[in-house]
Amino acid sequence: MTTRPSVAVERHLTSDDFARTLAADVRRGLTRRAKTLPPKYFYDTRGSELFERITRLPEYYPTRAERAILTAHADDIAKLSGADTLVELGSGSSEKTRLLLDSMRATGTLRRYVPVDVSDGALLGALKALRDDYPDVEMRGVVADVERHLHLLPRTGNRLVALLGGTIGNLTPGKRRRFLSAVRANLASSDALLLGTDLVKDPRRLVAAYNDTAGVTAEFNRNVLRVVNRHLHADFAPHAFAHVAVWDPNREWIEMRLRSILPQTVHVRDLDLVVDFGTGEELRTEISAKFRQESLEAELAAAGFTLAACWTDPAGDFALSLSTVR
Ligand SMILES: C[S@@+](CC[C@H](N)C(=O)[O-])C[C@H]1O[C@@H](n2cnc3c(N)ncnc32)[C@H](O)[C@@H]1O
Repeated sequence: MTTRPSVAVERHLTSDDFARTLAADVRRGLTRRAKTLPPKYFYDTRGSELFERITRLPEYYPTRAERAILTAHADDIAKLSGADTLVELGSGSSEKTRLLLDSMRATGTLRRYVPVDVSDGALLGALKALRDDYPDVEMRGVVADVERHLHLLPRTGNRLVALLGGTIGNLTPGKRRRFLSAVRANLASSDALLLGTDLVKDPRRLVAAYNDTAGVTAEFNRNVLRVVNRHLHADFAPHAFAHVAVWDPNREWIEMRLRSILPQTVHVRDLDLVVDFGTGEELRTEISAKFRQESLEAELAAAGFTLAACWTDPAGDFALSLSTVR
């Protein structure tokens, strides 16, 4: 007799909620002197697919480096955490996650996988790909915004909460502090945090990782304009904006921007908003902070975590840290 995989999806980010939050973020971001849009809006189904293509680009080392760490240490993570439930924030395709699931299963503890993402396309795709390979594992997908819905995530089991891919670096330092404290506040004493962080390195490699020669990252960057056009009836002409990636050595982060290549006026019909862009004016669409191991440990401690282990890939490009709750 075959076991039927148990798969469920719960939704805390409804389409109304998404539309309201997007409208508020777009109004705030486009009416500031230095225009910005939050990176979470890259990830509609097309954006998530473009991100998957990015992870396979020769210039984009973070995914390969993090996979190398997981290949070497997923067993250690499974044993040290002793978790029966893997909650993954910003899970995307859940591809690398298989390494963790396999080790947790081999350790004999794995019962439940809870992928959490704003992108329902990515989440449903991931669950579809996983369910037949893990028929003995309860799959509970959650469509949610981890900056707003952490308190609504399932609390069952001994949880390992993972945030991979360097996604934590997309938050500004203030938001990052608040986010890590909120994660901590939502963990029980037996839970643990697994955090993937990209490390500071030669700026030429960093910039290349965000400005590939095939132009995939450029299309991913412009995708946020397509999302705004579709949901808010705006008339951004995506190719009237050039993709820009720069390293900020003081703040130690990469900035992705969209630079207007001509003077233009954009109408956001649903917001009754008219936005002018001068030639060369830039709209910041993402930061991706890079970390140093010492300051990372201090940040985790400030949020109430104790570093239990930290591994890097052989080249020292990326770090994966496991923290317990103090
Ligand atoms: C950089 S990708 C990383 C994907 C995957 N974890 C990996 O390591 O390849 C960021 C992922 O987080 C999701 N995401 C971004 N902001 C989010 C938010 N506020 N709440 C939930 N998911 C979010 C995106 O949809 C995307 O799947």
